[in-house]
Amino acid sequence: YADHRDLHLSLRRQRQMCIRDRHKLTLIREKTTGHKIFRELVTEVATLVAFELTRDLATIPTEIVTPMMATTGNTVSGKDVVLVPILRAGLGMVDGLIQLIPNARVGYVGMERDEETHKPVHYYFKVPKQPENRSFIILDPMLATGGTAIATANSLKDLGATRIKFMCLIAAPEGREAFCETHPDIEVYTASLDEKLDDNKYIIPGLGDAGDRLFGTK
Ligand code: URA
Repeated sequence: YADHRDLHLSLRRQRQMCIRDRHKLTLIREKTTGHKIFRELVTEVATLVAFELTRDLATIPTEIVTPMMATTGNTVSGKDVVLVPILRAGLGMVDGLIQLIPNARVGYVGMERDEETHKPVHYYFKVPKQPENRSFIILDPMLATGGTAIATANSLKDLGATRIKFMCLIAAPEGREAFCETHPDIEVYTASLDEKLDDNKYIIPGLGDAGDRLFGTK
Protein backbone atom coordinates (compact mmCIF):
# COMPACT_ATOMS: atom_id res chain seq x y z
CA TYR A 1 0.00 0.00 0.00
CA ALA A 2 2.99 2.27 0.47
CA ASP A 3 3.32 2.16 -3.29
CA HIS A 4 -0.23 3.41 -3.82
CA ARG A 5 0.27 6.34 -1.46
CA ASP A 6 3.60 7.24 -2.99
CA LEU A 7 2.05 7.16 -6.43
CA HIS A 8 -0.75 9.51 -5.49
CA LEU A 9 1.48 11.90 -3.60
CA SER A 10 4.35 12.16 -6.02
CA LEU A 11 2.43 11.94 -9.27
CA ARG A 12 -1.00 13.42 -9.02
CA ARG A 13 -1.76 12.67 -12.60
CA GLN A 14 -1.07 9.01 -12.42
CA ARG A 15 -3.65 6.84 -10.81
CA GLN A 16 -3.23 3.21 -9.98
CA MET A 17 -6.22 1.06 -10.61
CA CYS A 18 -7.34 -0.77 -7.50
CA ILE A 19 -8.29 -4.28 -8.59
CA ARG A 20 -9.64 -5.64 -5.37
CA ASP A 21 -8.09 -9.05 -5.31
CA ARG A 22 -5.50 -8.58 -8.06
CA HIS A 23 -6.51 -12.06 -9.09
CA LYS A 24 -6.59 -11.55 -12.84
CA LEU A 25 -3.31 -9.68 -13.01
CA THR A 26 -1.67 -12.50 -11.07
CA LEU A 27 -2.95 -15.05 -13.60
CA ILE A 28 -1.67 -12.88 -16.45
CA ARG A 29 1.82 -12.84 -14.94
CA GLU A 30 1.95 -16.63 -14.38
CA LYS A 31 4.20 -18.07 -17.06
CA THR A 32 2.15 -21.25 -17.61
CA THR A 33 -0.92 -19.20 -18.67
CA GLY A 34 -1.37 -19.93 -22.39
CA HIS A 35 -2.22 -17.37 -25.08
CA LYS A 36 -5.98 -18.05 -25.17
CA ILE A 37 -6.47 -17.37 -21.46
CA PHE A 38 -3.81 -14.63 -21.52
CA ARG A 39 -5.73 -12.79 -24.25
CA GLU A 40 -9.03 -13.08 -22.36
CA LEU A 41 -7.44 -11.82 -19.17
CA VAL A 42 -5.80 -8.85 -20.91
CA THR A 43 -9.22 -7.88 -22.27
CA GLU A 44 -10.79 -8.17 -18.82
CA VAL A 45 -8.12 -6.19 -17.01
CA ALA A 46 -8.14 -3.55 -19.76
CA THR A 47 -11.89 -3.13 -19.12
CA LEU A 48 -11.27 -2.80 -15.39
CA VAL A 49 -8.65 -0.09 -15.87
CA ALA A 50 -10.95 1.57 -18.41
CA PHE A 51 -13.61 2.01 -15.72
CA GLU A 52 -11.27 4.46 -14.03
CA LEU A 53 -10.12 6.07 -17.26
CA THR A 54 -13.64 6.73 -18.56
CA ARG A 55 -14.82 8.26 -15.30
CA ASP A 56 -14.67 11.79 -16.73
CA LEU A 57 -15.82 10.98 -20.25
CA ALA A 58 -18.50 13.47 -21.31
CA THR A 59 -22.05 12.16 -21.22
CA ILE A 60 -25.13 13.50 -22.98
CA PRO A 61 -28.31 14.07 -20.93
CA THR A 62 -30.87 11.88 -22.66
CA GLU A 63 -34.65 11.86 -22.22
CA ILE A 64 -36.08 8.36 -21.90
CA VAL A 65 -39.27 6.76 -20.68
CA THR A 66 -39.02 3.83 -18.29
CA PRO A 67 -42.05 1.56 -17.75
CA MET A 68 -42.72 3.81 -14.75
CA MET A 69 -42.14 7.39 -15.92
CA ALA A 70 -40.24 9.81 -18.11
CA THR A 71 -36.76 10.57 -16.84
CA THR A 72 -33.40 11.95 -17.91
CA GLY A 73 -30.50 9.53 -18.19
CA ASN A 74 -26.97 9.84 -19.53
CA THR A 75 -25.51 8.30 -22.63
CA VAL A 76 -21.98 8.24 -23.97
CA SER A 77 -21.43 9.22 -27.57
CA GLY A 78 -17.85 8.05 -27.68
CA LYS A 79 -17.55 8.95 -31.36
CA ASP A 80 -14.92 11.52 -30.55
CA VAL A 81 -12.85 8.95 -28.65
CA VAL A 82 -9.94 7.39 -30.53
CA LEU A 83 -8.17 4.32 -29.20
CA VAL A 84 -4.56 4.21 -30.36
CA PRO A 85 -3.03 0.77 -29.82
CA ILE A 86 0.73 0.67 -30.29
CA LEU A 87 1.47 -2.37 -32.46
CA ARG A 88 1.56 -5.10 -31.69
CA ALA A 89 0.80 -5.72 -28.02
CA GLY A 90 -1.55 -2.71 -27.76
CA LEU A 91 -3.99 -4.58 -29.99
CA GLY A 92 -4.72 -6.91 -27.09
CA MET A 93 -6.33 -4.07 -25.14
CA VAL A 94 -8.69 -2.75 -27.82
CA ASP A 95 -11.58 -5.15 -27.13
CA GLY A 96 -11.50 -4.35 -23.43
CA LEU A 97 -12.05 -0.65 -24.12
CA ILE A 98 -14.62 -1.21 -26.84
CA GLN A 99 -16.75 -2.92 -24.17
CA LEU A 100 -17.12 0.45 -22.45
CA ILE A 101 -16.92 2.79 -25.45
CA PRO A 102 -18.58 0.88 -28.32
CA ASN A 103 -18.49 3.88 -30.68
CA ALA A 104 -14.80 4.59 -30.21
CA ARG A 105 -12.69 4.92 -33.34
CA VAL A 106 -9.39 3.06 -33.59
CA GLY A 107 -6.12 4.49 -34.89
CA TYR A 108 -2.92 2.48 -35.23
CA VAL A 109 0.69 3.21 -34.48
CA GLY A 110 3.54 0.93 -35.53
CA MET A 111 6.88 1.79 -33.96
CA GLU A 112 10.38 0.52 -34.54
CA ARG A 113 13.81 1.60 -33.46
CA ASP A 114 15.91 3.49 -36.01
CA GLU A 115 19.17 1.52 -36.34
CA GLU A 116 21.28 4.68 -36.57
CA THR A 117 19.69 7.11 -34.16
CA HIS A 118 18.28 4.38 -31.84
CA LYS A 119 15.21 6.57 -31.54
CA PRO A 120 11.72 5.11 -31.99
CA VAL A 121 10.19 6.06 -35.35
CA HIS A 122 6.80 5.03 -36.66
CA TYR A 123 6.55 2.87 -39.76
CA TYR A 124 2.77 3.08 -39.63
CA PHE A 125 0.59 5.87 -38.30
CA LYS A 126 -3.11 6.18 -39.01
CA VAL A 127 -5.53 8.24 -36.93
CA PRO A 128 -8.85 9.93 -37.80
CA LYS A 129 -8.93 13.45 -39.24
CA GLN A 130 -9.52 16.51 -37.03
CA PRO A 131 -7.41 15.26 -34.11
CA GLU A 132 -7.83 18.60 -32.31
CA ASN A 133 -11.49 17.73 -31.64
CA ARG A 134 -10.91 14.22 -30.33
CA SER A 135 -9.90 12.41 -27.16
CA PHE A 136 -7.08 9.93 -27.66
CA ILE A 137 -6.33 6.90 -25.50
CA ILE A 138 -2.91 5.41 -26.26
CA LEU A 139 -2.79 1.69 -25.47
CA ASP A 140 0.27 -0.42 -24.68
CA PRO A 141 0.18 -3.14 -22.01
CA MET A 142 3.78 -2.50 -20.91
CA LEU A 143 5.21 0.93 -20.03
CA ALA A 144 8.88 -0.10 -19.87
CA THR A 145 11.39 2.63 -20.85
CA GLY A 146 8.55 4.83 -22.08
CA GLY A 147 10.28 5.41 -25.45
CA THR A 148 7.46 4.30 -27.76
CA ALA A 149 4.75 5.80 -25.57
CA ILE A 150 6.55 9.16 -25.52
CA ALA A 151 7.10 9.08 -29.29
CA THR A 152 3.44 8.20 -29.93
CA ALA A 153 2.25 11.06 -27.74
CA ASN A 154 4.69 13.39 -29.54
CA SER A 155 3.25 12.38 -32.91
CA LEU A 156 -0.34 12.92 -31.75
CA LYS A 157 0.53 16.33 -30.36
CA ASP A 158 2.30 17.24 -33.61
CA LEU A 159 -1.00 16.59 -35.37
CA GLY A 160 -2.76 19.00 -33.00
CA ALA A 161 -4.20 16.56 -30.45
CA THR A 162 -4.68 18.15 -27.02
CA ARG A 163 -6.74 15.55 -25.16
CA ILE A 164 -4.61 12.42 -24.66
CA LYS A 165 -4.50 9.70 -22.01
CA PHE A 166 -2.18 6.74 -21.78
CA MET A 167 -3.21 3.32 -20.55
CA CYS A 168 -1.11 0.27 -19.78
CA LEU A 169 -1.44 -2.79 -17.58
CA ILE A 170 2.03 -2.79 -16.05
CA ALA A 171 4.33 0.21 -15.65
CA ALA A 172 7.99 0.31 -14.64
CA PRO A 173 9.04 3.26 -12.45
CA GLU A 174 11.59 4.24 -15.12
CA GLY A 175 8.93 4.45 -17.82
CA ARG A 176 6.46 6.24 -15.61
CA GLU A 177 9.02 8.88 -14.74
CA ALA A 178 10.25 9.39 -18.30
CA PHE A 179 6.71 9.62 -19.65
CA CYS A 180 5.33 11.92 -16.96
CA GLU A 181 8.36 14.19 -17.22
CA THR A 182 7.97 14.59 -20.99
CA HIS A 183 4.18 14.69 -21.01
CA PRO A 184 3.03 16.00 -17.60
CA ASP A 185 -0.34 16.86 -19.15
CA ILE A 186 -1.14 13.24 -20.02
CA GLU A 187 -2.69 11.05 -17.33
CA VAL A 188 -1.25 7.55 -17.07
CA TYR A 189 -3.52 4.70 -16.03
CA THR A 190 -2.09 1.36 -15.03
CA ALA A 191 -3.18 -1.77 -13.17
CA SER A 192 0.23 -2.14 -11.55
CA LEU A 193 3.44 -0.26 -10.89
CA ASP A 194 6.18 -2.89 -10.85
CA GLU A 195 9.68 -2.87 -9.36
CA LYS A 196 12.12 -2.02 -12.12
CA LEU A 197 13.56 -2.84 -15.56
CA ASP A 198 16.15 -5.58 -16.04
CA ASP A 199 19.28 -5.19 -18.21
CA ASN A 200 17.29 -6.06 -21.34
CA LYS A 201 14.64 -3.44 -20.49
CA TYR A 202 12.04 -6.03 -19.52
CA ILE A 203 9.79 -5.21 -16.60
CA ILE A 204 10.48 -7.05 -13.32
CA PRO A 205 8.47 -9.02 -12.17
CA GLY A 206 6.32 -8.13 -15.22
CA LEU A 207 4.88 -10.81 -17.46
CA GLY A 208 7.56 -11.34 -20.11
CA ASP A 209 6.99 -10.28 -23.72
CA ALA A 210 3.37 -9.15 -23.95
CA GLY A 211 3.19 -9.46 -27.76
CA ASP A 212 4.54 -13.00 -27.80
CA ARG A 213 2.24 -14.07 -25.00
CA LEU A 214 -0.84 -12.48 -26.62
CA PHE A 215 -0.25 -13.92 -30.06
CA GLY A 216 1.50 -17.20 -29.21
CA THR A 217 4.62 -16.37 -31.20
CA LYS A 218 7.20 -17.93 -28.91
N1 URA B 1 7.66 -5.07 -23.52
C1 URA B 1 7.17 -6.27 -23.08
O1 URA B 1 6.43 -6.93 -23.79
N2 URA B 1 7.54 -6.69 -21.86
C2 URA B 1 8.34 -6.00 -21.04
O2 URA B 1 8.62 -6.45 -19.93
C3 URA B 1 8.84 -4.76 -21.51
C4 URA B 1 8.48 -4.33 -22.75
